[in-house]
Amino acid sequence: MKINTKVNLILIIVFICGIFISGTALANVLERKTESEVSSKAVMLMQIANSIRQYTNEKVQPLLLPKVETEQKFIPESIPSFSIREVFQIFHQNKDYANFTYKDATLNPTNLQDKADNFESNIVKEFRKNPALPDRSGFRTDKGEKRFYTARPFKIEHESCLQCHSTPEKAPKSQLATYGSENGFGWKLHDIVAAQIVYIPAEEIFNQASRSFVMVLSLLGAIFTAIVVIINLLLKKIVLKRIKRIAAVAEQVSIGDMNANFGKQDKDEIGALAEAFNRMKYSLEIALNMLNNPR
Ligand code: HEC
Repeated sequence: MKINTKVNLILIIVFICGIFISGTALANVLERKTESEVSSKAVMLMQIANSIRQYTNEKVQPLLLPKVETEQKFIPESIPSFSIREVFQIFHQNKDYANFTYKDATLNPTNLQDKADNFESNIVKEFRKNPALPDRSGFRTDKGEKRFYTARPFKIEHESCLQCHSTPEKAPKSQLATYGSENGFGWKLHDIVAAQIVYIPAEEIFNQASRSFVMVLSLLGAIFTAIVVIINLLLKKIVLKRIKRIAAVAEQVSIGDMNANFGKQDKDEIGALAEAFNRMKYSLEIALNMLNNPR
């Protein structure tokens, strides 16, 4: 096998191993980074939703509750779930955020817009079965769109909630007039009735990650190809061409042409080799002269 074939073979093996190892490491890092990016967005959105909930509970509800008792029509602005839904509707007017959603996914909701679908019902049921579970997150694909979700159990912690969510008899008349007496009742203290769920569109973030992956690997490939080309050129210029020349001269000397010479050489290992051949050529010349002209 020729020297440059050997060198290229070794380089290509190193390259394949290098690409494989760095590709695996990069894919790992990118995947972790992407997941932490979507999950931190989800946590932030959940925090915002809960801040709206707290604001409505603490600042708005006390002002409106007296009216809820007396007015004909229910004032939904007094209810945190309603405020959150309204705020998110405004949030969604910005197209960039149209797919960032929040839902109080409830098994038996007062407002049917909060009804948990199959996927969400399973999460609520899981929280009910395992009350110690603080949250759950993962990916959900529906209608061809991949979304990241984070869910937390929604537990009834206060007796006051049961005024409107236990039996229709206890609920304000205005609530029954607006929402009917079928839905959103029968809840009990310390029951997990719903899951707070945030959805984050993950497709674009994952596409970005795979674009970075392809870009970094292509860059590595290009750098490596350049290295192979440069090593081949240097090998040819610094080593192979000179060795071939020394071999040709040695060949000529071996068939008796004492005028063949190695020319000017650099002071490196190959130069030393040429120098050694030169000395051998002189010794050969002297030996031949002695043979041809014996005294
Ligand atoms: C004055 C009556 C009233 C009180 C008190 C009340 N709720 Fe509600 N709740 C409602 C109404 C009405 C809705 C539906 C609002 C809408 O249109 O989204 C609702 C919605 C909800 C929802 C969303 C699911 C659904 O049923 O549509 C949850 C969860 C919820 N309430 C939990 C609570 C908790 C927890 C408390 C106590 C801190 C509480 N509620 C106190 C009347 C009340």
